[in-house]
Amino acid sequence: MIIDIKSIKGENCACDALIFLLPENGAEGLKKLPRVIEPLIKQVFSREFSGRQNEVFLMKAPDTVKPERLLLVGLGKREQISVEKIRQAGGKAAAYLRDMGMKKAALSTDYLSELKISPAEFIEGALLGLYIHKKYKKNGNNKALENVTVLADSTLELSDRIKQAETVTKAVCFARDLVNAPGNDMTPTHLAHAALSLKTKHMSVRVLDKNEARKLGMGAFLAVAKGSNEEPRFIILDYKGAKGDPVVLVGKSITFDSGGLSIKPSEGMERMKYDMAGGAAVLGVMKAAEALRIPVHLMGILPATENLSSGNATKPGDVVRSLSGKTIEIINTDAEGRLVVADAIEYAKRFKPRAIIDIATLTGACSVAFGNEAAAMMGNDRKLLDVLKKSGEMTYERVWEMPLFEEYDEYLKSDIADVKNIGGRNGGLVTAAYFLYKFAGDTPWVHLDIAGTAWTEKDKPYVPKGASGIGTRLIFDIIEGLK
Ligand code: BES
Ligand code: MN
Ligand code: ZN
Repeated sequence: MIIDIKSIKGENCACDALIFLLPENGAEGLKKLPRVIEPLIKQVFSREFSGRQNEVFLMKAPDTVKPERLLLVGLGKREQISVEKIRQAGGKAAAYLRDMGMKKAALSTDYLSELKISPAEFIEGALLGLYIHKKYKKNGNNKALENVTVLADSTLELSDRIKQAETVTKAVCFARDLVNAPGNDMTPTHLAHAALSLKTKHMSVRVLDKNEARKLGMGAFLAVAKGSNEEPRFIILDYKGAKGDPVVLVGKSITFDSGGLSIKPSEGMERMKYDMAGGAAVLGVMKAAEALRIPVHLMGILPATENLSSGNATKPGDVVRSLSGKTIEIINTDAEGRLVVADAIEYAKRFKPRAIIDIATLTGACSVAFGNEAAAMMGNDRKLLDVLKKSGEMTYERVWEMPLFEEYDEYLKSDIADVKNIGGRNGGLVTAAYFLYKFAGDTPWVHLDIAGTAWTEKDKPYVPKGASGIGTRLIFDIIEGLK
């Protein structure tokens, strides 16, 4: 979709639909409306259209103006309007216009400037809301909204913010595509190819195969890979946007999680293709950071493998030696995420990172706790936790902190090894994080569990059903703040 900025009045903008954002029952939203349009909108207000949040109403425009139609979009109660509501309005309006067969839209920004909210937020929502995963469906939705004109003075600030929204949402959609792809296509090798596609002058990408991982001693990572005929890949990206120690992002990249010998029930197992959503988010952040030349030294690590069962698979009770030297008793082969992430965290430590952020669809217990609304966050560095919390609010990829009480250490004690890979049923969300904490040690580190948020079963205003792409906007926001 092409986005442009024009400093003309709405009534003079030729388009299929001119978009007005309006608060619930708020006459004030009507104040600055073009003369010729005002009475028309007043007429439908509180009858056909009330301005409820995400309500849309399409009507014919009068012949005396250039736009053919008017689209009214509700923002809800005036006092509750926020940046997020504007993003949602963007997602809802754009998808609605597309589905109605519109090609060219324009956005009236008078009310937005009154609210002091950038039209770029609306555009961000629109670009995210228009996402469709098309690759596997011939007769899917082939309609496209081709152009949105933002009716505002074209300042450098606005065009920069729109450009940034375009770049970041492109990265989110890149991540969504990877996650939506079925497991037979999105193998570790394919994921490595996706990573390699990000290679530029500023971004190096290295891919380790099974033998190289073995030589390094990544016993935890390889224990998961053992049951599959697909080759694992340990992927390392390095974007040197600045000198100095890197921030390292680690993304769980299980391209399919059957549970291994501790096999999952078949119902819903097909969704476990999204178990690489952490890795996809990391690639999304790397892509956006590089494209916008963010001056930060940023690395991404994706331990990529399938978790399957076979005659070669790791068995419950097996003990493996991780890269850190710690031995792990694998009680449950379905707790595989923490194994691959533990080796990745250990590997990350070799670069003397300023911080490690890992992002993983780690536990069903996370979904149980938060549903689809928040990622769980745990870590050992107050400053980093606070920064993440703030970015979560800004991007509305909200995170909620859970504790790492030292008592959890007890839960992970093994009779035979240094640590075991599960801490029992109760406290499953926090003991999974505590397991990782034992590998992060003193390095500033935060863990994000996105098991509940990486996938949505129903359309949301700017997150169509399927992979949400969560983590890309959130972590990008932090990285941008570090520069
Ligand atoms: N990938 C799953 C977690 C998951 C579950 C993500 C549902 C998204 C939706 C993870 O590897 C897993 O299987 N975790 C187990 C851990 C248990 C064996 C301690 C779980 O949560 O059941
Ligand atoms: Mn699992
Ligand atoms: Zn998993």
